[in-house]
Amino acid sequence: WATPRSGGGWMDHATMSPPDVAVRDPELLEKKKAAIRSAGPSKLQVIADFDGTLTRYWIDGRRGQTSHGLLQQGNAEYDAKRQALYEYYHPLEISATIPIEEKTKLMEEWWEKTHGLLIEGGLTYDAIKRSVSEATIAFRDGVVELFEFLEERGVPVLVFSAGLADIIEEVFRQKLHRSFENIKVVSNRMVFDEQGHLVAFKGKTIHVLNKNEHSLDMASPIHDKFGDPNGYDPESAFVKKHTNVLLLGDHIGDLGMSDGLSYENRIAVGFLNNYTETALKSYLDAFDIVYLNDASMGGVVELASQLC
Ligand code: TMP
Repeated sequence: WATPRSGGGWMDHATMSPPDVAVRDPELLEKKKAAIRSAGPSKLQVIADFDGTLTRYWIDGRRGQTSHGLLQQGNAEYDAKRQALYEYYHPLEISATIPIEEKTKLMEEWWEKTHGLLIEGGLTYDAIKRSVSEATIAFRDGVVELFEFLEERGVPVLVFSAGLADIIEEVFRQKLHRSFENIKVVSNRMVFDEQGHLVAFKGKTIHVLNKNEHSLDMASPIHDKFGDPNGYDPESAFVKKHTNVLLLGDHIGDLGMSDGLSYENRIAVGFLNNYTETALKSYLDAFDIVYLNDASMGGVVELASQLC
């Protein structure tokens, strides 16, 4: 366990390096765990971000790819156009000085242009399959154990992402080799024509700054590639009855994923992929538990076993 140092930073005393895990308020965490445990698994749901949360940040010394980053649409000109957009907009996405309203407009612009290029450049479902099979992407160790544990107890998992649902689901299919009935992906979902060409996106666009606004209103079953995401009813027992939340994210903005719920108890777990003492401090203001050093999901599996 890490403890605060007199200078206000956090260090593991034994190694004098960033700790693997830090807890904001151990007493409060125990109280939340006890409340969730006593309510039982039928009240619990897990809401998880995908990129950098369920997936590893580093893979064999290389940065893991995101659902957007891995996509090769089989059309070099359009891959280059999307890369140029990334180079222009990503610095704006992470800028600390652009006011939020302005940044929201820029993010809307970025997502709209990228989605437009995917359609215009003739993306096919086959290109998605091929891109995923060639991608540098891997789930954190322990993710399968976590999903199996939650499935056995009937605990639903919402994977909530501003990326691309169809790619995330293909990653699930190719990397997990099995489907989980308890997992739903809430993300930008494509519509393909009969020849397998992308023709449109369903519903409202989810980008990094409106993951909260969209909370939980677009989920659809993971195994239903061409299914109607609007068939999912946010007023259903599914969301409303599961008033205890285990939230997993890698950005402070991910806390907004549970905004659409009036939850009773929430334990928020953050994966800090870019360590600095300042970042750890702000993550500890936001999350109950912070994992560092590209940790596995092992700690979350243990936590889940204490909750249900
Ligand atoms: P999320 O996975 O945390 O929900 O966020 C999606 C990420 O996708 C976000 O950090 C920006 C990135 N992105 C790309 O890499 N390429 C793109 O074309 C777009 C629109 C987003």
